[in-house]
Order: sequence, then C-alpha cells, then structure tokens
Amino acid sequence: MPIRQLRVSGVRNLHPLTCEPHPQVNFIYGANGSGKSSVLEAIALMAAGKSFRTSTLKNVLHHESDRLELSVAIEDPDLGTCELESLRLRSGDHLLKQNGSVLTSQAQAAHWLPVQIIEPNTFRLLAGSPEERRAFIDWGVFHVEHDFMEQWKTFRKQLKQRNAVLKQKEDEWLSVWNAGFLESAEVIDQQRRNYLKRFTPEFERILKLLDPHIEVTLAYYPGWEKQSSLADVLERQQERDMVLGYTQSGPHRAELRIRCGKLQAVEVLSRGQQKTVVAALKIAQGYLFQHESGRQPIYLVDDLASELDQSHRLALCQLLEDLKCQVFITSIEKEKLTDVWQPVASKVFHVEQGTIIEESSK
Ligand SMILES: Nc1ncnc2c1ncn2[C@@H]1O[C@H](COP(=O)(O)OP(=O)(O)OP(=O)(O)O)[C@@H](O)[C@H]1O
Ligand SMILES: [Mg+2]
Repeated sequence: MPIRQLRVSGVRNLHPLTCEPHPQVNFIYGANGSGKSSVLEAIALMAAGKSFRTSTLKNVLHHESDRLELSVAIEDPDLGTCELESLRLRSGDHLLKQNGSVLTSQAQAAHWLPVQIIEPNTFRLLAGSPEERRAFIDWGVFHVEHDFMEQWKTFRKQLKQRNAVLKQKEDEWLSVWNAGFLESAEVIDQQRRNYLKRFTPEFERILKLLDPHIEVTLAYYPGWEKQSSLADVLERQQERDMVLGYTQSGPHRAELRIRCGKLQAVEVLSRGQQKTVVAALKIAQGYLFQHESGRQPIYLVDDLASELDQSHRLALCQLLEDLKCQVFITSIEKEKLTDVWQPVASKVFHVEQGTIIEESSK
C-alpha cells in the first residue's frame, strides 16, 4: 500500500511540498541540513503520531509556523485509495482525518501506514530501555492480530484498576481485580508469544543474509519469571506491590532479550554490527508482515551510509528491493546510494535548503 502523494507544510525547514513518490524505491539525497530526515520524519509522524527524532512535537513544527499539516494519499489494491490528513497546532491541538472524516485514534492511521524506520539512532533498539523492544514486538502483533489494540486497551484498564486498589491498600478487593487482570494478561502474552515464535526464524534467516558472522539469540521475557505462573507471582509479590502502590509484574514489563551467548548483544557488538542486527529485526518484521497480511510495509531508511560499509549497504538494499515494497532512502551523496544499488523501479529526489525536487531517474 504505497504512498502515492505526500503533502507537507510547517515541518522543520521544509518549504510546503507536494510530491508523488514512486511505489517502490525513492532515493532522497542532499547536503547536510537540507531537509532529508525531515521528509522522513513527516511520513513517520503521519504514521505513528510521533517523531523518531524528538519526543517534543513542537520541535518538528517550523520555527515561524503555527500549524503543521500533513497529507498522504495511499493506494491499497483491495481497499482503494485512502487519504489521511493530520493538522497540528502550536497550542498542541491535533486533528486526524481519513477521507475527510475525523479519526479518534492514531492506531486507525497506523493501520494504513505500516511504516518501519531504520535510521542512525536505530541501534537504540538494542541499547535502549525494554519499552522500545516491547514496542517493537507490539508493532508486529498489532499489524497481524486485528484485535490486539482492543486487548491491549482492556489490559491497560485492568492494570490501572489494580494499581488504584493497591494504592488505596484495599486488599480485600485485590482478588476481584486479579481475575480480570490475569485474564487479559494471558491474552496479550499469548499473542506476543505466538508472534515471536513465527518471527524468530525469519529474523535468523534475514540476519544470515545481511551478515553470516553475527550470532545473536532472541529470548522473550513475558514480564515475570518464566518458571512461575503470573497468578503465583502476583500472590508472592502482593505485599510488596501494596507497599509500592503498583504492579511489578505482568505484560507491561515484557521484554525481548537480544544476546550474544550469555551477554547482552549491545555489550559485545560493534556499532555497525548493532545497526545490522536492528536492520535484520526490522526487515524480518516487514517480511513476516507481508507474508501474513498480504499487505506491504513502507520503509524509511535515513542516512543509509552511516555506519554500514558497502557490502552491508548492498545486502540491506537487496533485501528491501526483494520485498517489492515502498522505500524512502536518504543519503548525503547520490552516489552512495546509486553506486551500490540500481533498482529498476525508482525515483530520485534532490533536497536543497528545504525544497524537494524530483530528478528524471534514468
Ligand atoms: N523547527 C525547525 N524550524 C525550522 N528549521 C528547523 C527546525 N528544526 C530543525 N531545523 C533545520 O532544518 C534543517 C533540516 O534538518 P534535517 O535534519 O532534515 O537535515 P538533513 O538533510 O537530514 O541533514 P543531515 O545530512 O545532516 O542529516 C536543518 O538545517 C535544521 O537546522
Ligand atoms: Mg538527516
């Protein structure tokens, strides 16, 4: 489901732009500070409601603008064309629309834009908090299990209620809330577990293609010690939970542990190897998504050359091309992209001081 038209205004240094990307590969090149990452950031913002570069959305808004407007027209072979629009004001107000009708949640937009991002800080997926790896698993589950978002909302509600009871020290009510909490925790855990069972072999396959010398293992940690049932853990931790005023164990503490032997991968691998592992995780997720949903992901690859040598760049590009999905890929020099990779179906865009211009591709 490629983006057919992209309109952006009020984003960082970009002049209001309208462009018609290629349904497959889009090369975006330009000097430092020209606005390449900002173009990808705009697409990511439309898809996820957040930027991959800042947690403060005001930073994305052009210094001299009070509004940020995004619009993408997406083509789906089964569902037809869909237009998503997002309007953000400096005051913080946000309006999201699909084909002119207001959407009440970002998840509805995310469904249309299954975007995967590979960018220079992407190794944070290994080095960062468990939350990032949990979000990674949940991207996959969300896009293949249609009820995951609902299940997750139910679980969050149960967790909130249980925490409220713990804070009030109402232990006589705890067993009542435990039942609902355990029931929804079980559903989330099972969906994640099933997903990772299918995901792991795909990841191993892709990593071998990107770099046969890196050996890492993935292990799912459900959010409590595996040897015990969550019900037992809750009972054992009840007193401490009551003192703390929150639930220490459960799916909200789940984690994907990525290791080299017994050590955390991040402690062993070089930066380039970390980027390769993260790229393998993200590309494997795209392959599995495509295989299981029959839909195509969209890849945003920012600053491809950073930390990857030519052979790793080529291997990564080849995997993206084989996916036959839409890719937006940036680099400072055009040659860094086109020297290693000449996909048949592509467009080239040059960004200069906030203006994006399409070049004739061949
Ligand atoms: N809120 C903002 N308003 C206006 N301009 C901004 C804002 N935030 C950043 N900029 C400017 O936008 C420009 C584009 O930044 P961007 O990160 O997109 O460049 P880039 O082409 O990806 O550069 P690089 O090759 O260094 O990664 C920079 O010159 C930056 O100073
Ligand atoms: Mg950049």
